[in-house]
Amino acid sequence: MGITSASAPGKLILCGEHAVVYGRPAIAVPLTEIRAEAHIVPMPPGSGLRLIASDVNREWVVDDMTTDPLGKLVLATLHHLNLSAANLTITLNSAIPIASGMGSGAAVATALVRALSNHFSRKLPPEEVSSLVYISEQRYHGTPSGIDNTVVAYEQPIWFVKSHAQSPEQQAPSPQIERLTIGTPLFLVIGDTGVRSKTHMPVSNLRQRWQEHTNHYESLFDQVTDVVHQIRDALIAGDSTTIGALLNRNHSLLQELGISSPELDHLVKTARLAGALGAKLSGGGWGGIMVALTDKQTMQPVAAALRATGAAQVVETTVGLPAREPATQGLMV
Ligand code: PMV
Repeated sequence: MGITSASAPGKLILCGEHAVVYGRPAIAVPLTEIRAEAHIVPMPPGSGLRLIASDVNREWVVDDMTTDPLGKLVLATLHHLNLSAANLTITLNSAIPIASGMGSGAAVATALVRALSNHFSRKLPPEEVSSLVYISEQRYHGTPSGIDNTVVAYEQPIWFVKSHAQSPEQQAPSPQIERLTIGTPLFLVIGDTGVRSKTHMPVSNLRQRWQEHTNHYESLFDQVTDVVHQIRDALIAGDSTTIGALLNRNHSLLQELGISSPELDHLVKTARLAGALGAKLSGGGWGGIMVALTDKQTMQPVAAALRATGAAQVVETTVGLPAREPATQGLMV
């Protein structure tokens, strides 16, 4: 058996983050040009399972670090494939900035599951990949909505509503997922504030405030829901101008939810002044990234303005070009 490789895309939450934790819909898109990779080399019997995370200079034996989320994901995937043991060296690397809101954790985990299943010639459907990855996402974030693992595993724009029933620990929920067909390509510029914020912090802070002022926050979530429904219609119709205005509205609501930060607001404002159709923070907030919707002509000027004003990283990407199959098939080399 030779080396097996597989990859998975980053992701971007277009709208509805945070409200999605409270059962409201959100829309996310895959970032197919920014990917994580997993490479599997078969080893002689008795070698066991070794993981190498080359970006962070880490190397470990799965059996020696029983609480490690990636090691647990390897074991869960082997179990899912009805395998009791394997002798493999698995190398992981990623072009997706860590803890930025571009789904690095879900992408690495998805590449790992895809590579393992391909290695044993078992092509898993996206929903099974997504469920396995959700287990590792839980270990990083507590009780994530599941939107990250879903969009990464499906590798298509999705409409997502998490399951109503609170799933017991370690069981994947069954969310409502719809693949969206986007009417016109979206020219996106993603600006990274460079401020690293762990998603669970704004999530638990908002939960505390929601518990104290439930009606106020429920009303804000309902307003986000309205915006997300309108964005969905505009996406399908290919009406970028309307989407831009609605993204601005979503950002205002996120500000009211206490999720933005001065750095995010500054990048959002800069993008709008440089000609973006709309801009908002994306993902967990309090740091991380913002996204600007542009057209073909304003993509470069918006990216240049974000760089000039000090964005730690700027990514230009296009979403919604002709649909491609989810990359569950790995590359055999
Ligand atoms: O920080 P990210 O990009 O993983 O996004 C978190 C999105 C939230 O809605 C804030 C949390 C969740 O679990 O959906």
